[in-house]
Amino acid sequence: MTSPAQGVPRHGELVTARVRVLRVPVPAGDDPLASPEAWAVHGSVLVDRAVELDGLGYDDLALDARTILTTMVEEQEHKRVLRYVAVADGGTDGSAAPSPESVVGRAVVGLPMRSNPHLALAHVRVLPGWRRQGVGTALWEACLADLRAAGRTVVVGDADLGGAEPPPGPDALVPPTGSGRFPRSDPGAQFALRQGFVLEQVDRHSHLPVPVPAGRLDPLRAGARAAASGYRVHVWCDEVPEERLAGLATLYTRMSTDAPNAGLEIEEDPWDADRVRDKHRAMLAGGSRFVLAAAEHEESDTLAGFSCVSFSEDRPEVVFQDDTLVLREHRGHRLGLLVKVAVLDELSRANPAARRVHTWNAQENDHMLAINVALGFAPAGVQSEWQLHL
Ligand SMILES: CC(C)(COP(=O)(O)OP(=O)(O)OC[C@H]1O[C@@H](n2cnc3c(N)ncnc32)[C@H](O)[C@@H]1OP(=O)(O)O)[C@@H](O)C(=O)NCCC(=O)NCCS
Repeated sequence: MTSPAQGVPRHGELVTARVRVLRVPVPAGDDPLASPEAWAVHGSVLVDRAVELDGLGYDDLALDARTILTTMVEEQEHKRVLRYVAVADGGTDGSAAPSPESVVGRAVVGLPMRSNPHLALAHVRVLPGWRRQGVGTALWEACLADLRAAGRTVVVGDADLGGAEPPPGPDALVPPTGSGRFPRSDPGAQFALRQGFVLEQVDRHSHLPVPVPAGRLDPLRAGARAAASGYRVHVWCDEVPEERLAGLATLYTRMSTDAPNAGLEIEEDPWDADRVRDKHRAMLAGGSRFVLAAAEHEESDTLAGFSCVSFSEDRPEVVFQDDTLVLREHRGHRLGLLVKVAVLDELSRANPAARRVHTWNAQENDHMLAINVALGFAPAGVQSEWQLHL
């Protein structure tokens, strides 16, 4: 067991006042999450749940252990994911694995591998009772060492807040987009400012209770269908036909450039059919299911737009709105609304246990927000996007 009194940390560990930081081992074997080295994954889940209950009042957004493991082993050729935990002194006597309960903070770094060689995504969380003692800084320094070693020069991170945006005034930080506000006094904002990050964008986090009443959905569906003549909707659950993967890859590629990125230095992330297939397989392997609707332009036989939601088999009441995109050349035909309604229609059949959908949209993304408001999404929180140049 390392402690400041005992001096030098072992290789790969960073020690602060009462904690040490280490890389999360990837549990292996037939039943990896039951293996002794899974303690750090389970500890990360506990931290996420506690931080979200404290900050948001619910833990819908906390990843479960299976999903965390999936992000560490699947698709690493596209996005390498490194995880860290801060373990309280006393969490182990040095001979046994620490207990999940001894994890007091966690950090995640994502490194795009096939594009964006300059970029790293980073996120740090510390249990409320362990804050302002340097734990977040120790986790951040561990991230920083690895992302510098990987040659990354731009770091993007985010901080969340439940409830409403702050009113305009001295505590309200406004990004250069001019849209949205985030409180300067928020611990995540204070921490990010301290590390030199700059606020670039503010997103609205919204909730939609589902199923959506027919009285709201029916006229929206009828209006969208009337405006979208010449387009046909396909809906797929958990698997997309092989012949459609390439068309979907074009849409995923355009997600990286066509959704508003404000000043975040995110370059095009190219997709092909294999990557789309791998992504969908990885979702299923991690216990997630998805419903995807795509609008086909009948004359050209191309996929012009799509929308996708996903949920965990273990917690089907919580649904996440993933990507939605309409190619620029096909906008103005209400295809965004059309595919979103199609997803909600299918969701009520494929997952009758669904109770709420979470979505995040840039505050300057007027068109997407208008569609979501029409569907019944209501503001639930604020997310801030930060950027640091190394
Ligand atoms: C942000 C967070 C990770 C900070 O963890 P932490 O262990 O408290 O961080 P540290 O103790 O290392 O704080 C480092 C510095 O950040 C600043 N800071 C952090 N929290 C602060 C707060 N509540 N008020 C003012 N300054 C704060 C201070 O400058 C602090 O140094 P100091 O204590 O010497 O004054 C933690 O509050 C948290 O988990 N928040 C929720 C998740 C989140 O928002 N993450 C976003 C960051 S990517």
